[in-house]
Amino acid sequence: MDIRPSKFHSMQTANQTELKKTDDLAGNAVIRVEDVHKYYELGETRVHALRGVSLEIQRGEFVAIMGASGSGKSTFMNMLGCLDRPSSGRYLLEGIDVSKHDKRALAQIRNQKIGFVFQGFNLLARTTALENTELPTLYAKIDKAESRKRAVEALALVGLADRMEHFPSQMSGGQQQRVAVARALVNRPAILLADEPTGNLDSRTSVEIMEVFQDLNDKGLTIVLVTHEHDIAQFAKRVLVFRDGKIRKDDPVTHRPRAAEVLKTLPTLED
Ligand SMILES: Nc1ncnc2c1ncn2[C@@H]1O[C@H](COP(=O)(O)OP(=O)(O)OP(=O)(O)O)[C@@H](O)[C@H]1O
Ligand SMILES: [Mg+2]
Repeated sequence: MDIRPSKFHSMQTANQTELKKTDDLAGNAVIRVEDVHKYYELGETRVHALRGVSLEIQRGEFVAIMGASGSGKSTFMNMLGCLDRPSSGRYLLEGIDVSKHDKRALAQIRNQKIGFVFQGFNLLARTTALENTELPTLYAKIDKAESRKRAVEALALVGLADRMEHFPSQMSGGQQQRVAVARALVNRPAILLADEPTGNLDSRTSVEIMEVFQDLNDKGLTIVLVTHEHDIAQFAKRVLVFRDGKIRKDDPVTHRPRAAEVLKTLPTLED
C-alpha cells in the first residue's frame, strides 16, 4: 500500500462524504485538543481523569505518551480514537469537531480516520491473517476485490506477505501484533493510535514493532503511541508525559535511534 501523504490522503478524502468540517482554522493539525476535561461518574464518586489538556499534533508526527498508571493516558487515547467524548473542551480531528457528534457519527469517523492497535492483539482465532486484516473493510462500503487488495498490501507493509494464510495460533506474538497493525491500516486512516502495543512482547520483538512504526511514519502516517518503556518512547519524534490528568512534559526526541539499526545489535532467537 502506498501511503505517501499525497496519494494516501487524496484517497481518504474521497471517502469522507457526510462529515462536515466545522473549523477551517485547524490548518494542518490532524489533532487539535482544546482544554479537555474528562469526568467518570461512579455512583457517588467522580473521577477527574483529564484536567485541562490542550495539544496539537501535525500530520506526519510520531508521538509517544508516557506517565504513571492512572495518569489518564488511555482516557486520552480513547478520546483521540472517538471511543469516548470529552466532558468539556473541544477535540478537532482533521478539522471535525468530534465533541458535537453523536455515537453513530463517532463510529463513522472512527472507521474512516482511526486505526487502533492494543496490547492484546485481539485477532479472531479461527481466521487467517488475511481475513483478520480485511475485517474493518466490511463496515466501509468497499467491494470485495478492493478489500482483498488492500489487505494484501497492508500485510506486505508490515512484512507479512508470506504469512497471509496463517492462523493466529501459527504465528509468533510479534507477527500477531503486525497483523493487528495491518488490520489498523486497511481503511487508510489519518492516524494510528497504539495503546501499549509492545506490552506483551519481549524486547527484541518490541523493537521490531517499532521498526514497522518508524517505516510507516516515514511514509507519512501520523502515529500516537502509549508506552511505559522509556526506551520504546525514544523511537518516536516527540514524547508527552502525563501526570494526574495533565500533560507535564512535551519534548522532542533529540537522538532518535533507528529501530532497524538497534535490531542489528540485539541477539536473535537463533543466537
Ligand atoms: N471507565 C472508567 N470509569 C471510572 N473511572 C475510570 C474509567 N476509566 C479510567 N478511570 C479512572 O481514570 C483515571 C485515568 O485512567 P486511565 O485508564 O486513563 O489511566 P492510564 O494512564 O491509562 O493508566 P495505565 O498506565 O494503568 O493504563 C484513573 O484514576 C482510573 O481509575
Ligand atoms: Mg492505560
